[in-house]
Amino acid sequence: MTEPARDELIRAALDAQKRAYAPYSDFPVGAALRTASGKVYQGANVENASYGLTICAECVAAAAAVVAGDRDFAAIAVVSRGGATPCGACRQFLAEFNPKLRVIMVDSEHQDHGFQSTLDDLLPNRFDKSKIDPGKRPE
Ligand code: THU
Repeated sequence: MTEPARDELIRAALDAQKRAYAPYSDFPVGAALRTASGKVYQGANVENASYGLTICAECVAAAAAVVAGDRDFAAIAVVSRGGATPCGACRQFLAEFNPKLRVIMVDSEHQDHGFQSTLDDLLPNRFDKSKIDPGKRPE
C-alpha cells in the first residue's frame, strides 16, 4: 500500500472514532477497512448498558463491507488511545475473510506512534473452515 493510501485509511479510522458510542469504557475505537476494490468501510465500537452486547469497531467495519458484497479485505486501520491491537474475537472475525490481512494500529493521540502487522502474525494457528470441513481450504 502506498503512503497516501495508508494515510487515507488512518484518517478514515480517526473520523469513525469520533462517532464511537463508548460511554461505559470511555475507550473509543475507530476502524477503516479497505477492500481490493479500493472502497473503504468505517466502523466504531458501539457499547450497550448490557455490557456484553458491545460490538467492536473492527467487526462493525467488516460487517459493513460484507453487507456491501465486498469481501476481499486488503487492509484495516484501527485507532485508539495507545494504539491497541485488535482483540482476539476481532482477529477471528477478520480472519474469516482474509487471514493475511494487513493490520495498521495507530495511537489516536500520537498519530506518529503506530504498529503494523498481519493477521497471520496476530492470530497464528487459527480456527478456520478447513477444520470444519477438511475439503475447504482457507483462502
Ligand atoms: N474494542 C474495540 O472496538 N476493538 C477491539 O479490538 C478491542 C476493544 C472496544 C470494545 C469496548 O467498547 C472498548 O473497546 C473497551 O474494551
